[in-house]
Amino acid sequence: MDPDTLDWAALDRLRETFLQGKSASAGAYWHSRSDLANYDATFGERIGWKWDAVLRELRLRGWQPPPGPVLDFGCGSGVAGLRVIAAFGAERFTKLFVHDRSALAEEFALFRAREEFSTLATARLARAELATLELPGTLVVSHVLNELPDNQRRQLLALARRAQAVIWVEPGTHADSGELIAVREALREEFVVVAPCTHCEACGLLAPGNERHWCHNFAPPPPAIFADSGWTRFARRAGIDLRSLPYSFLVLERKPGSPDCPPPPPGVSRMLGIPRLYKGYLKLYDCSSTSVRELMLQKRDLPELFASLADESEAVPLFQWHTEKARAHAGTHWPPAV
Ligand SMILES: C[S@@+](CC[C@H](N)C(=O)[O-])C[C@H]1O[C@@H](n2cnc3c(N)ncnc32)[C@H](O)[C@@H]1O
Repeated sequence: MDPDTLDWAALDRLRETFLQGKSASAGAYWHSRSDLANYDATFGERIGWKWDAVLRELRLRGWQPPPGPVLDFGCGSGVAGLRVIAAFGAERFTKLFVHDRSALAEEFALFRAREEFSTLATARLARAELATLELPGTLVVSHVLNELPDNQRRQLLALARRAQAVIWVEPGTHADSGELIAVREALREEFVVVAPCTHCEACGLLAPGNERHWCHNFAPPPPAIFADSGWTRFARRAGIDLRSLPYSFLVLERKPGSPDCPPPPPGVSRMLGIPRLYKGYLKLYDCSSTSVRELMLQKRDLPELFASLADESEAVPLFQWHTEKARAHAGTHWPPAV
């Protein structure tokens, strides 16, 4: 990463387009291959760190996508599809399909795929082909939802319904979380919910009283970037906090062929967001099959867990708690360290 060689006019324009929610109306905002290369090395790489967190969690849960093709919808520079293939091994996948409303993006994503996985078959899929595609593999979607008008969201949902598995990552806002929950609820009868949930029941965030909460977590960036003057100068110039990588995600696998509901076992729950730290204690939102509740944890009860929760590099926010009322008096990470 060398911020001096970046095209800042292009990055500023892209960032403003994304930030101001103009992406839907901006049309094809990729103007050149260079736009995609600049995005890929910077904002795209940060999205890749969110994917790394999601894929790490999937591996820890012991889940893999079914063998077959991968389709990266709204591929941009191709970061999502490539991260999935790298995480599970190119030999697991028969082909990488890319689709984007921008032909420049599709070309760039295919170029990057050939660079990284020279023997993997690749192809672009036209919009017309998507309309009837039965995908005997995995649909990958990343940071696309807020660019789609309602009719295209419905088409994407219909495409998801014709896939064997779906891995979908969005930016982690209240609105994105709500959209992903709607996808989860629409597909829950035909698919098992692999993650982020620890259960396959209705989403607890839909229960009355939980409207202000949303399902999101924070990905840990690679520690080395904080010692990398290129990344720190990039962050200063771009006005971004390198530590803050919120994301919401959803992973589904078609029934049958998968268990009724995949691990973790009953009793495991997910922390939403990050804990709120106070003197000697912290509070967190805990989501399980039975409730979304606020839990309090005293440092003196669980010093090691307290320290790891306070450490922002905590990657997989799954826990088994023993509680009395709203206070956790014992707890462990899940899966337990071996
Ligand atoms: C914010 S970028 C994300 C790119 C990539 N998925 C990532 O995570 O880095 C959104 C992408 O969605 C594409 N896109 C927007 N609307 C689309 C549509 N209706 N059909 C296909 N792609 C679309 C854009 O061209 C852009 O490449």
